[in-house]
Amino acid sequence: AKPIRVALLGCGTVGTQIVRLLTEQADELAARVGTRVELVGIAVRRPNKHREVPAELLTTDAAGLVASPDVDVVVEVIGGIEPTRTWLLAALTAGKSVVTANKALLAEHAGELFEAADASGADLYFEAAVAGAIPLLRPLRESLAGDRITRVMGIVNGTTNFILSAMDETGAGYAETLDEASRLGYAEADPTADVDGFDAASKAAILASLAFHTRVTAGDVYREGISAVTSADFAAARALGRTIKLLAICERVFTTGEDGAPEESVAVRVHPAMIPRSHPLAGVSGAFNAVFVEAEAAGQLMFYGQGAGGAPTASAVLGDLVAVARNRVVGGRGPRESAYADLAVRPIAQA
Ligand code: HSE
Repeated sequence: AKPIRVALLGCGTVGTQIVRLLTEQADELAARVGTRVELVGIAVRRPNKHREVPAELLTTDAAGLVASPDVDVVVEVIGGIEPTRTWLLAALTAGKSVVTANKALLAEHAGELFEAADASGADLYFEAAVAGAIPLLRPLRESLAGDRITRVMGIVNGTTNFILSAMDETGAGYAETLDEASRLGYAEADPTADVDGFDAASKAAILASLAFHTRVTAGDVYREGISAVTSADFAAARALGRTIKLLAICERVFTTGEDGAPEESVAVRVHPAMIPRSHPLAGVSGAFNAVFVEAEAAGQLMFYGQGAGGAPTASAVLGDLVAVARNRVVGGRGPRESAYADLAVRPIAQA
C-alpha cells in the first residue's frame, strides 16, 4: 500500500513526543498499519525554537500544509478555536482524516466537524482530547455502542485533582496550594481554564455527546470550579469520612413532560463534590484522571490513568493515527457521528 502521509500542526510538549514516537517506532507502526506512516510536515509558529525535530519538516504555513496534495492525515495539537477550526474543516472537507487533541474546539464545534467528515468520508478521531492516555472515547463510541449508557462520572482534570489532593494531604489553603502547583509545573501560567472548570466542562460535553449520542456543547454544562474550596471544607469533609473532588457528571435523565409522557434528556455538570473516602474516585490522587461509566447491560466500568503530559497524550494521538491509517489501508472508516439524535440537555445541577 502507499504510505500514509501525515501533517502535524503544533510541536509543543505533546507534538514533540508524537514526532519522537513516530520516528522511534516507524517499523513497528508500519507493520501494524500495513504501510509506512510518514511525517511530511510540521507547522509551527517559530521554527528556530524546534531544534529537536528535523528542520526540513518545519513550516510556518499551516494552511498550506493542510491543503498540500502530499498530505493524507492531519494531526492537530495546537489547541484553540481559530484558526484551528478553519484548518481542520478544510482538511476534512478535502477528505483528509483528522486526529486532534483539541477539547475546546470539539466541545464547541463537534457538529460541523462531524458533518464535514461524514460528507467527505474522512475520519475524525480525538481520544487525546479527554483524559489523556486513558482509552475512554473509543470505548464509548465503539465498544459500548451496543449498550445504553446511563451515567459517566469522573475526574477529568489533572491540575485541579493535584491541587485538591494536596489540600487534603497538607491541610493548606487553596491559594498557597495553587502557587505550589504552579511552581512544580502542574498548573499552567494561566490556570483559569483548569481551576474554574472550563477544561473539565469541555471534556464533560464531549463525554456526554458520545455517551448519549447527542450534541452537548461546553455552554450546556453547569460549571463550578475549585477556587472557593477552603481548608475548612476539607476539615469538614474529613470529619464525615469524606474528601472533595472536582467531578464531571453526565447522566441520562427521564422526566415527565406536560402531556404526561416521559421525556428523555441529559444532565451535564462539573463541580466540587464531597465523596466517601471509600469511593474508588477518592483514591485518585495527584495529576491522575479516573472515569466511571455505567451502562444498562455492562454494569459499572472504571477507566484510570494519566490524563495529561507529553508522552501519555501522544500515546492516545498515535493510537488514533494508527486507527485512521488502518482505515485508509482497508478503505474503511470509523463510526459516523453526524446523525445524532438531539436529546434535550439539562444544564442545571441535579442534587
Ligand atoms: N490542563 C489539563 C489537565 C491538561 O490539567 O488535566 C489535560 O487536558
